[in-house]
Amino acid sequence: MSDPQRDSTSLQEAIDLVELHASAAREPVKLWLLGVIMAVMFLGGMFLWANSGGFSASVYDTGRVTAGKGSGAPTPPPNPRMISRRLYMQNCAVCHQADGMGIPGTYPPLVGSEWVLGQEWHGDNHLVRVVLHGLQGPITVEGRSFNNVMTPWGGVLKDEQIAAILTYIRSEWGNSAPPVSKAFVAQVREETKDRKAAWTQKELQEIPRQVSPPPVPEPTPSTVAAPSPPAG
Ligand code: HEC
Repeated sequence: MSDPQRDSTSLQEAIDLVELHASAAREPVKLWLLGVIMAVMFLGGMFLWANSGGFSASVYDTGRVTAGKGSGAPTPPPNPRMISRRLYMQNCAVCHQADGMGIPGTYPPLVGSEWVLGQEWHGDNHLVRVVLHGLQGPITVEGRSFNNVMTPWGGVLKDEQIAAILTYIRSEWGNSAPPVSKAFVAQVREETKDRKAAWTQKELQEIPRQVSPPPVPEPTPSTVAAPSPPAG
């Protein structure tokens, strides 16, 4: 059973609603608002035109920007230190941490480590062995004991990459030790090619200490790019 009183109210409400919508639709767009919108769009367009660099992807290539378009200057080579840092971050930082401090009791520090700096009985040959094949069992670093396992990296990283990482950890975070050359890493890899298991501190201690000869300097970009003297 429907209530006639209630039906008429809801009908009236519906009519009111239709009226309201119709009046809103009739409202003219404010001219001044249209003007403001157009001005904002125009200024936005001007800004993009002035700052987009022609919408070319190469504007964010800092090498090209510093060299200048058409100046003939070669693109600067990638910074070797940044490459070494990236290799360290990708392969070692998960355990030894970005700041080289390791995690107390679990992952030993590389900062100030006699293993890294080649102090006491530790030679560069021991350091390369640790990275190539890993390290396991009880060790001491700066007087603190660890007893864990480090995975081998010889199958993953090339001689050049290991040399870059070791050179990086020996000169970062206040560490100061000479670089390790690619040739030295290759030499140790050859000497230990039959080795499968991770090393122990006890085993390494019995191997006489060796030091990496300084890397052969690569030709620097300035010598490559030097203009030849004018003829005559
Ligand atoms: C999965 C974790 C892990 C990763 C990744 C790792 N290490 Fe280690 N590293 C260890 C552990 C654990 C030890 C100690 C092993 C032990 O207790 O016998 C160690 C020991 C060392 C040591 C000798 C001790 C010291 O603190 O100086 C050096 C050097 C070293 N790692 C360098 C590296 C380098 C370089 C990389 C990257 C290529 C790397 N590690 C990647 C876990 C790791």
